Amino acid sequence: MIDIASLKVELESRIAASDTPADILKSKEFRELYASIPTLAVDERKEFGQKVNELKETIARAVAKRQEQLSAKELPAIDITAPFDVNAAMPALLPSDQGTIHPLMNEIETISDIFNRMGFVTEESREIDDQYHMFESLNFPKGHPARDDWDTFMTVETDASGDPLIAPAHTSTMQNRVMRKYHDNLENNQPIAVIVPDRTFRNEDLDARHEHTFYQVEGVYVAKGVHAGMLIATLQAFLEEYYGRQLEVRVNPFYFPFTEPSFEFALSCPFCDKQGCNICSQSGWIELLGCGMIHPNVLKEADIDPTIYTGFAFGCGIDRLVMMKYQIEDIRHLESGKLDFLRQFSA
Ligand code: DAH
Repeated sequence: MIDIASLKVELESRIAASDTPADILKSKEFRELYASIPTLAVDERKEFGQKVNELKETIARAVAKRQEQLSAKELPAIDITAPFDVNAAMPALLPSDQGTIHPLMNEIETISDIFNRMGFVTEESREIDDQYHMFESLNFPKGHPARDDWDTFMTVETDASGDPLIAPAHTSTMQNRVMRKYHDNLENNQPIAVIVPDRTFRNEDLDARHEHTFYQVEGVYVAKGVHAGMLIATLQAFLEEYYGRQLEVRVNPFYFPFTEPSFEFALSCPFCDKQGCNICSQSGWIELLGCGMIHPNVLKEADIDPTIYTGFAFGCGIDRLVMMKYQIEDIRHLESGKLDFLRQFSA
């Protein structure tokens, strides 16, 4: 009598190695098994016949499984963002015109490079943060009405104190972290000098000047004897290098909870030399960024003694900078993914 148990093991290993597993169901072993049934004694036939049927079912399942495996192997992984037909044979190298660096990323590199040459190091922000870093550490107590000016997207996840985690509405959310990270600089008589260019999010009514997702560059500079003149000179030097020409700046008083005094920084319109044009709404000036001397409470929250050290900080909208540089009339182009827009920036 054929040994069904050892036949099962053998057939299974053949299926696992086969590219045409269905053939095994029609193999000569099965024919022999069925042919042997009538040769058995009558009282053995029923039990043996049942075992043969069980074997056939087990093998049919193994065949189906193997077939599934084989067809999964044949299907290419589908990448819905691929700018080519995933089923077509791919050239060894994609033509170089199929991808370029996004203009904002290029500009972030330029901005970073200018600040790095002035001695600032570059750090990254994050796309989800807690309310401590976004508000409390920046001298916005819980329930402070100024929080409404940084209205953003909430997640269903909560932090340790039960507040929702949020998409940061400004890169200032990194101030406390970078001051702590570079705290030792101060003991070594070095300044803390950091920029954070990264993504930010706001719950905005969208129009040509407002996007829900945009970029800012934060700057933090702390040392002994830092004063507002240094802030203004640093920003002016940066902007003149970025636009490649001399510019006049205008500094107006403003309010931010995390700076005292606080300023809004405008520069003479680089397009019309203060004559008034569409880009500057005929005013000759363009408001560019917020800045100020870091509030003593913000320094204290990062374990920096405000009676010994002072610092300045600024936060500048990168999209706005870039729009002015290239005369882009609508901020929404930048995140639109439109190729006819993006191709204008490819080298
Ligand atoms: N975080 C502010 C905003 O998003 C900009 C800003 C203002 C940043 C003053 C600063 C600062 O670091 O000191 O509007």
